[in-house]
Amino acid sequence: MRAMAVLAPLAMRAGRSLDRAWRTTLLPLLDHPAVLLPRDFPLFLLGARTDAAIADVRAASGARAAFEAIYTASDDPWGSAARRYRYQARKYEQIMALLPDRRFDEVLDLGCGLGLLSQHLALRANRVLGLDLAGAALDHARRRGSLLDNLRFAQGDVLDLPASMDGRFDLVVVADTLYYLSPLDDALLKRLSARFAALLRPGGVCLLVNHYFFAADRESRQSRRIHDAFGWSAGFTVLSQHRRAFFLATLLARAVPDDAAPDDTGPDDAGPDEAAPVRDPAVAGPAGEDAPAAAPVRRSSSPPECRTG
Ligand SMILES: C[S@@+](CC[C@H](N)C(=O)[O-])C[C@H]1O[C@@H](n2cnc3c(N)ncnc32)[C@H](O)[C@@H]1O
Repeated sequence: MRAMAVLAPLAMRAGRSLDRAWRTTLLPLLDHPAVLLPRDFPLFLLGARTDAAIADVRAASGARAAFEAIYTASDDPWGSAARRYRYQARKYEQIMALLPDRRFDEVLDLGCGLGLLSQHLALRANRVLGLDLAGAALDHARRRGSLLDNLRFAQGDVLDLPASMDGRFDLVVVADTLYYLSPLDDALLKRLSARFAALLRPGGVCLLVNHYFFAADRESRQSRRIHDAFGWSAGFTVLSQHRRAFFLATLLARAVPDDAAPDDTGPDDAGPDEAAPVRDPAVAGPAGEDAPAAAPVRRSSSPPECRTG
């Protein structure tokens, strides 16, 4: 009897400690994307198979045909919308949490795919435009986003953005798109960073997101190269950089104007492709509409100050 009286409170205390450890330590850990439950593994295999299929078709028929083919064969080639996988849904939530805590006016989602991230963005913005190379992707995106009347989609190529888009957006998001460009050499990265900076209004920000797996694979090293190139670019200043499982995100602000600095990497440097048409009037804008003037950019001679988290 006496033993019971001693043991019962001890057992209760141990039970409470276990319960607290479960709630405060183990449960959040299991909910962290780094702890992949077995059901999330097939998502990564599916992604690898899709990327291999894209590489095959692209080698024979070009990038546009490759992306059209995978979105025609499947309405969710990377399993991004599949409810049985947790990773991608969590990733979109994490990406949204990295954005400045404000409501945006005009947002551009470059390489929007099925428009799943565009849908999240539409809840934080007055107008969102999702742009993708593949018309078949946009068919899926329009169907999926049909309830959001501030969300539009248009076909276009990040390599060929028209000058009519310049200075129109206060947020540009580019998620898991740039490493599909080939060849992704330093000259192209320099041109793209200048091009994307020119899309922003003064005070606008660009969020760059790319797959990142501890720099262990070729794609992760490619991602690091992309983010470094944008961080060093004359058009941008790095606001913050974040490593998550399994992606790298960099938040960039349009560089502060500095009249003293020469600007040879701005929109004029972006090449002759700027006037290429995008097949949607929402992108081209009404005839004669004035876009705000692009501000000159400051050239940085050292890596930008960068907050990581
Ligand atoms: C992995 S998906 C990412 C989709 C979306 N950003 C997301 O995070 O859910 C890559 C997308 O980039 C698009 N893409 C590839 N090259 C492109 C280009 N040159 N211009 C525009 N979109 C492109 C593809 O069609 C595809 O939809």
